[in-house]
Amino acid sequence: MKFDQSSALVLGASGVLGAGIARELRLAGASLSLLTRSGELAEDLQSAPHVRADMRDSAGLESALDQLSPPFDIVVNATGVVAFGRLDEVPEEVVRELFDTNALGVVSLLRHLSTRMNEGGVVVNLTGVAADVSVLGLSAYSASKAAAKAALAVAAREWRGRKIRVLDVRAPHTETGLVTRSRWGTAPNFGVGLDPTAVTQRIVQAIAEDETVLVPESFSPS
Ligand SMILES: NC(=O)c1ccc[n+]([C@@H]2O[C@H](COP(=O)([O-])OP(=O)(O)OC[C@H]3O[C@@H](n4cnc5c(N)ncnc54)[C@H](OP(=O)(O)O)[C@@H]3O)[C@@H](O)[C@H]2O)c1
Repeated sequence: MKFDQSSALVLGASGVLGAGIARELRLAGASLSLLTRSGELAEDLQSAPHVRADMRDSAGLESALDQLSPPFDIVVNATGVVAFGRLDEVPEEVVRELFDTNALGVVSLLRHLSTRMNEGGVVVNLTGVAADVSVLGLSAYSASKAAAKAALAVAAREWRGRKIRVLDVRAPHTETGLVTRSRWGTAPNFGVGLDPTAVTQRIVQAIAEDETVLVPESFSPS
């Protein structure tokens, strides 16, 4: 797809991957709008139209989308929260926050976007490798991401006839500092993660080249 003149929205633009993808899309010629929960945007992104919303508040999210002049050509959801620990360790309220943000938040977003995308558009979700593999210590996070993966696969089929593409990004561990922002528990030793810039560039390449899934191997240097 072509970025020039396209209308691109990045949710989670206050985060490391969201901000990186927003910069790449703007550099490629997209007309950018941003959504954050905290309102904390890097200085170089502050000129873009920006609204605040919480993924856990479906009505608030819908009204925020409408403030950004849909329909969109490109929507990237880079919001997400993590917690670590066994299923029987992670507190109930933390499990709920993970599901409300990473799973139900994605379902709400997909429902709202079904009438707010241009034909030929793409919805990108940063699902992560945790949706595919069961890593000890990632219990609730993995389960919430697997739910998002399932919802994305359904949306991809439902929207195929309308030529709206879904790109499910199941990137491996990346050095964004997300693990230090855990809602609960301490991260297992993942080893050294990928460079966030390389990950954002690969995602934007996949948007341009009409890909529908990025598996962990998609991020290996060729
Ligand atoms: N880092 C990795 O290793 C990795 C690998 C694969 C996939 N991912 C996924 O990629 C996404 C971005 O991760 P990141 O590493 O860039 O983390 P990050 O820097 O911590 O960014 C997380 C973003 O999520 C937003 N957010 C959290 N809860 C929210 C809520 N309830 N409503 C709206 N926004 C909310 C934060 O917004 P505020 O700051 O404004 O609150 C922030 O912009 C996440 O979904 C993550 O699971 C990460």
